[in-house]
Amino acid sequence: MRGELCIGSASVLALISLILLIFMHVGQINTSTVPRGISMVNVNTSGYAAGLEAALGDPIAGLYATNASTPLQAMLGIRENYKFGLYSYCGYVNGSGICSNTSAATRWEPFSTIVADMRSNYSGVTTALITEGTFIDSDYLGEFTKGAYYLIIIGSVCVAMALLTGLLKHTVLFFLSTLFAVLGSLTLLIGATIWTVVIKKAESINSFIVGPSGAPVPLGITVSTGDALFLLWAAWACLLVSTLPYMIRCVHYAEQ
Ligand SMILES: *[C@@H]1O[C@H](CO)[C@@H](O)[C@H](O)[C@H]1NC(C)=O
Ligand SMILES: *[C@@H]1O[C@H](CO)[C@@H](O)[C@H](O)[C@H]1NC(C)=O
Ligand SMILES: *[C@@H]1O[C@H](CO)[C@@H](O)[C@H](O)[C@H]1NC(C)=O
Ligand SMILES: *[C@@H]1O[C@H](CO)[C@@H](O)[C@H](O)[C@H]1NC(C)=O
Ligand SMILES: *[C@@H]1O[C@H](CO)[C@@H](O)[C@H](O)[C@H]1NC(C)=O
Repeated sequence: MRGELCIGSASVLALISLILLIFMHVGQINTSTVPRGISMVNVNTSGYAAGLEAALGDPIAGLYATNASTPLQAMLGIRENYKFGLYSYCGYVNGSGICSNTSAATRWEPFSTIVADMRSNYSGVTTALITEGTFIDSDYLGEFTKGAYYLIIIGSVCVAMALLTGLLKHTVLFFLSTLFAVLGSLTLLIGATIWTVVIKKAESINSFIVGPSGAPVPLGITVSTGDALFLLWAAWACLLVSTLPYMIRCVHYAEQ
């Protein structure tokens, strides 16, 4: 491959990777149009009232917040849908939502997050009812997702640096751009793997059964993967493919 063609394809791939990563990062920072749809993981609690009713044998009232602008974490009612991003999460009632404060290295702790929204007469029965599964293990989920965040941020910086150094014509910088692309591929791969594994494990809540043994019903809380994780995997794939032209160009110029 010609040097110019290599630099062109490597840079285009790195640029696509960077754009995908930017979209992944902004997910759930607020509820304005674009970030609203982008999340790492979603939790749907809309069936939980029915699950709780079957478990307790009493009608359930006041479990959900009816106003989308009700503050989060204030024991004022849970939201039907929660979407979690890398920096914050939003709770949605009937399609409109409110978001938490944003902070870097946010831990994904879905169970504590949702229980903190419940009125006190429901949080106790919920912690007594759901006693197994990774979903309730906030320490495990929090630690791993926090670690994954740092890997993803290192990977994102590497992608930007690979793109930048790859555009400048200098032998040492060509070597650096290859190094950044390889390092970025590695850290993004580990970060994406951690998130994928953690979500798969938390999804065990989807098949949790409650109610009398004669007539069991689903708990009604379901975990699903969000679009941001697919963006992360796509960004990783683009970067991985870009390492090839980066390497070829690196070798090509080293020989001259
Ligand atoms: C949540 O789950 C309910 C019942 O399974 C479903 O009808 C609803 O469409 C889901 N909401 C979203 C946003 O996926
Ligand atoms: C829990 O509290 C809410 C609001 O205070 C009330 O509407 C609901 O009936 C209570 N539920 C139970 C099972 O006590
Ligand atoms: C929801 O709460 C906000 C602020 O507290 C209030 O302005 C709004 O009218 C409420 N909406 C409904 C439908 O109650
Ligand atoms: C959700 O929105 C629909 C249509 O806009 C409305 O009929 C329904 O009452 C709303 N539900 C709640 C809980 O606000
Ligand atoms: C969000 O930030 C505001 C202002 O910094 C603070 O007053 C509020 O308590 C924070 N909310 C949460 C849930 O931490």
